Amino acid sequence: MNQGIVAVSYLGAIILFILSLGGLSNQETSRRGNVYGMVGMGLAIAVTILGSQVTSYSVLAVAMAAGAVIGAVLAARVEMTAMPELVACLHSFVGLAAVLVGYANYLDPHVQSQFSGVELAIHEIETYLGILIGAVTFTGSIIAFGKLRGSIRSAPLLLPARHWLNLAALLVCIWLGHEFMEAGSPAGLTALIIMTVVASLFGIHMVMAIGGADMPVVVSMLNSYSGWAAAATGFMLSNNLLIVTGALVGSSGAILSYIMCRAMNRKFIAVIAGGFGTSGGTSAASTEGGEVVAVSAEETAELLRDAKSIVIVPGYGMAVAQAQHTIYEITRLLRGKGKKVRFAIHPVAGRMPGHMNVLLAEAKVPYDIVLEMDEINEDFPTTDVVLVIGANDIVNPAALEDPGSPIAGMPVLQVWNARTAIVLKRSMATGYAGVDNPLFYKENTRMLFGDAKQSVDAVLKSLAE
Ligand code: TAP
Repeated sequence: MNQGIVAVSYLGAIILFILSLGGLSNQETSRRGNVYGMVGMGLAIAVTILGSQVTSYSVLAVAMAAGAVIGAVLAARVEMTAMPELVACLHSFVGLAAVLVGYANYLDPHVQSQFSGVELAIHEIETYLGILIGAVTFTGSIIAFGKLRGSIRSAPLLLPARHWLNLAALLVCIWLGHEFMEAGSPAGLTALIIMTVVASLFGIHMVMAIGGADMPVVVSMLNSYSGWAAAATGFMLSNNLLIVTGALVGSSGAILSYIMCRAMNRKFIAVIAGGFGTSGGTSAASTEGGEVVAVSAEETAELLRDAKSIVIVPGYGMAVAQAQHTIYEITRLLRGKGKKVRFAIHPVAGRMPGHMNVLLAEAKVPYDIVLEMDEINEDFPTTDVVLVIGANDIVNPAALEDPGSPIAGMPVLQVWNARTAIVLKRSMATGYAGVDNPLFYKENTRMLFGDAKQSVDAVLKSLAE
């Protein structure tokens, strides 16, 4: 294909990706944003296939067909609750791809012979950095996958002298980088392999050191790393589109990490350094004890009937129970009776950024009654009833009241300031951060035990009678 056409097509794809990111920043335009992204990616793939770098269509066709089938089956099968794990898994693929491309590039004498002098030095730095970022992303994402899936415990692993270990890993990688550059190709392979092992261990350690409630930052941070890994791959392959796309993902992931850190009241550098500043707290926090008042679905309906102002706080349990559609039915019914019903969204509710917004949009809840934490926190004192649907950490007063808590300092939805808070969950079990919740024992809290879907179905039935 003509180079001019390739360049123009790449430019078109880049513009579509930028429009996609712009669209995804708002719920109302997110669908359009997705379409731009899909068209952009389709264009990018088509032009790359037809480009001069592809020499064997048969190998490519087999690889693409296998990838497409696996991707389609996984995407069709994945539950909404397992989406964060899938995303973490996909990040690990980007990391692994960067490592493999790096090695292939380094070991290919044809590629190496294209460069000399300063160009060769730059190419070697690109290869080294690409493999380093890729290895950290690969192993870090696998650990994040395990933590999100629950197969690795979510409490932080706090090794003694862990920051010194991280610093040592960094210094070793810098020294190995120097050795790698000095040795040239292929003698630098030993240094490259040792660095890959060290970077892989660093990725594991970094994510293991991060505690349950801080996982959202890790997810967005690995998203950013995967972008930089892709950009590095782009440099190695001299592919401008991959460089720009990687930079877009890398920088938007970094911005999302920053937003997440602000939402969690954590320091960006501290999280990137891997659990820096994490004291670990009392992860299996002391059981608060005290009296818990259970209510029935009928009593909940009664409280809702008497209320004028109602706020619904969805959490991970709503996603598990798939209760969003019934909740919207309840919302419509109550709004029909002239009550003010709004939704309060915590930035890290659920297991991925925007998790609750996606579920509420799926249930067709109007956007104008879905409010962010900062927009609604001040309104709780004038709220009659708060329905907490399968949320736990994001409504935990210990974050504000107990400096020793692992979630200390994290802003939360202050639902206990309302006249009555009704918590829908199955048991007294803790949430993702593994911290006991004093909210359950407050005088104005009522517990509606059971699966959230069954509970809201019963409440709807009672309200409709
Ligand atoms: P959690 O604190 O995890 O609490 C969810 C609660 O839902 C659990 O206590 C559970 O209690 C209940 N539940 C589970 N299944 C249920 C069902 N079928 N019916 C009713 N209740 C059910 O969730 P949250 O309040 O949304 O907070 C999110 C947590 O995840 C935070 O710690 C956050 O840091 C972390 N996290 C977030 C993200 C992102 S990006 N959002 C990523 C990783 C981690 P029972 O077992 O008693 O029912």
